[in-house]
Amino acid sequence: MDAVTADNLRKSFGSVKAVDDVSIRISEGEIYGFLGPNGAGKTTTIRMLTGVLIPDSGTVSIFGTDVHKDPLAAKMKMSVIPENGTVYSDLTAFQNVLLTAKFYGMEKKEREERAVDILKRLGLLERKDTLVRSFSKGMRQRVSIAAAIVHSPRLLILDEPTTGLDVQSRRLVIDTIRHMNSEGSTILLTTHNIEEANALCSNISVINKGKIVATESPEKLKKNFDTSGYVEVSFDRPVGEDIFSSPGLIRAESWGDKWRLFSDDPDFAVRYLLSVAEREKLKIVSIATSNPTLEEAFVRLTGEA
Ligand SMILES: Nc1ncnc2c1ncn2[C@@H]1O[C@H](COP(=O)(O)OP(=O)(O)OP(=O)(O)O)[C@@H](O)[C@H]1O
Ligand SMILES: [Mg+2]
Repeated sequence: MDAVTADNLRKSFGSVKAVDDVSIRISEGEIYGFLGPNGAGKTTTIRMLTGVLIPDSGTVSIFGTDVHKDPLAAKMKMSVIPENGTVYSDLTAFQNVLLTAKFYGMEKKEREERAVDILKRLGLLERKDTLVRSFSKGMRQRVSIAAAIVHSPRLLILDEPTTGLDVQSRRLVIDTIRHMNSEGSTILLTTHNIEEANALCSNISVINKGKIVATESPEKLKKNFDTSGYVEVSFDRPVGEDIFSSPGLIRAESWGDKWRLFSDDPDFAVRYLLSVAEREKLKIVSIATSNPTLEEAFVRLTGEA
C-alpha cells in the first residue's frame, strides 16, 4: 500500500500559485525527499498532505485514509514536524516527549523507556529535566523531533528538519531519521540541502515554482542530465576541437583556456587524453576529473544560477 497518495493538488494565495498540480506517490518504507529552493511550495504541499491546509483542488490519502474526509484517522497514522518545530516551553524535554506518547495511548512504562531512549539518541539525555524555555534553537528542534517520533509513527513528515542546526545536531537528526526508517517508519522530508537529499532519500521530487519538475532516485537524477563525468585539461598551446575524436567521447567543449571532454568512463577519457597529448606533442598543464553532481542536476531543473 502507498503511504502517501496525492493527486493534482493545487493551492493559490491571491495571484500566487503556491502549488500547481502536484501529484505524489510514496511507497511504504521509503525515505522520500522534497527538494526545492525557497518559495517553491514545499511547505504548502506538506500542509495540504497533513490536513492543515485545505487544497483548492486535489486529493490526499495517507495509508488509504482520505485526509480531508477523515482527518482524525489520517492524523493518527502520521507525525508531523513543522518548519519551526513545536514544543511546550513550560515543560521539560522529557515531559514534552511523554505528552505525545500519552496522547498516542502508550503505556506508562513503555513511554518512559522509549522517551529516554529517544532523548539519548538525540543527545538530550543530560538535559531531559530542564525546561525547554531555556533551550537553544537546535535543542528545541531536537525535542520537537523526539516528541514526534516517540510513538513510532507509520509516517513521519519533517519540514526542513536540519535547517539552522550545527554539524553535530544535524548528524544526530539524520541518524535518527535513518533509525526510524530502519524500524519501519516511512519518511517524507523537505530540504534545500542537496547533499542531504542525496545521502538520505531513495526518491526525490524536485519542486520549483509550485510544480514538480522531476521525480527520481538521486542517482538517476544525476544520470538523466548531461552531467556524465568529464575530464578538464589544459595544454601549453591552443588546440582545435578536431584533435579530439573517439567513439568513447560524448563531446569536447572548449572552456576558457581548457577543454572539457565528456565521457561515461573517466578512466578512458584520461588515457585518451594522454595519447592525444603524446601524438600532438602537447604538454599537459593541468588535468582534473569531475563526476556528475546532484547540484548540477538541481540547478538545471530549477533554473537557479
Ligand atoms: N499563508 C500564505 N499566504 C500567502 N502566501 C503564501 C502563504 N503560504 C505560502 N505562500 C506563498 O506560497 C509560495 C510557496 O511558499 P512555501 O512556504 O510553500 O515555500 P517553501 O518551498 O516551503 O519555501 P522555503 O524553502 O523558503 O521554506 C511562496 O510564494 C509564498 O509566499
Ligand atoms: Mg518551507
